[in-house]
Amino acid sequence: MDAKDSIAPSLHEPADPSAIAPALLDWYDRHRRDLPWRAKPGETPEPYRVWLSEVMLQQTTVVTVRPRFIAWTQRWPTFADLAAADEADVMAAWAGLGYYARARNLLAAARVIAAEHGGELPRTEAALRGLPGFGAYTAAAVAAIAFGARAVVVDANVERVVARLFAIATPLPAARPAVRAATDAITPEHRAGDFAQAMMDLGQAVCTVRRPKCLLCPLNAHCAAQASGEAERYPIKKPKPERPHRHGTIFWLTRDGVNGREVLLVRRPDTGLLGGMRALPTGPWQDTQPGVAGAPVDADWCALNVQVSHGFTHFTLDLALVTGEAHGKVEATGEWWPIATLGEAGLPTVFAKAARAAMGMEAG
Ligand code: ADE
Ligand code: SF4
Repeated sequence: MDAKDSIAPSLHEPADPSAIAPALLDWYDRHRRDLPWRAKPGETPEPYRVWLSEVMLQQTTVVTVRPRFIAWTQRWPTFADLAAADEADVMAAWAGLGYYARARNLLAAARVIAAEHGGELPRTEAALRGLPGFGAYTAAAVAAIAFGARAVVVDANVERVVARLFAIATPLPAARPAVRAATDAITPEHRAGDFAQAMMDLGQAVCTVRRPKCLLCPLNAHCAAQASGEAERYPIKKPKPERPHRHGTIFWLTRDGVNGREVLLVRRPDTGLLGGMRALPTGPWQDTQPGVAGAPVDADWCALNVQVSHGFTHFTLDLALVTGEAHGKVEATGEWWPIATLGEAGLPTVFAKAARAAMGMEAG
């Protein structure tokens, strides 16, 4: 596709591509946020920190990531430290951040980097693409931010800013190639990493999803959407069909252990949703409520009037919660975990929610 054609012709004043990067970098030099993974002006970025932050920031907000990034880098400060970590610890440290394949890939990539790349990231976008978990976004972001390569970095913030600058009329996701071509057209030869981060800062602070602050925007003289008077309309989105619902059951099986009350936890299979995570036992997930099918043991299951819902990418999962007590000798696969220290188990959000509900009942 010819890049010029694919940047949808706008009815409004088109952006002057060459003016955008200088105006944006000038704004960034004055307003850049101080973030724990960012090099200060004049410092050299640390590739490990850039990579980790970019993986954490996919699908997770800066506010949530900041403390988690700090804790993670204190525990595992380098590729070598992470490569030597236990998978169970890594998965537990990721708990609550969602999209758990990211954590498994982080560890897999750290091990490849330690074993095959002398503990250092390869420096080009193409070489980075060969590592576990490095999609187009991560490879471009790391190449640009950590190594200063000219790479075209498009995340959801950049997508929104660019769709507005060029008033791209095609709805997403069909507009993706046009957005990429337009981002390419405005990405500078030098400081591509600062440019990408400036676009993200602009998208988070100024060119927000709702009510963009066009009056304060360093790019307002170059923005076709702002000229149209309808900036908020962009990016235009194709209406999404509603996510289907699936149903399942969470089993809260308790017993009196030597050191107090305990609950049965299992490890989810490595493949599949929440793969490798510690969890409460579940039965099958299906289109209708499965009841106690797939229970970990035979017990007098008691249904709590509690529903836990969780939105996954392709469906919403509605989970019923049932409780049971293991009396005497019960053969159950899993580990008995003291309820008092359940916070340390690293349960993903859905199970943490269910546990809170069940503990509320247990406490009476
Ligand atoms: N979102 C993704 N990467 C980011 C970064 N480096 N800075 C701010 N927000 C981001
Ligand atoms: Fe976004 Fe408004 Fe700036 Fe255009 S002028 S980039 S719509 S904030």
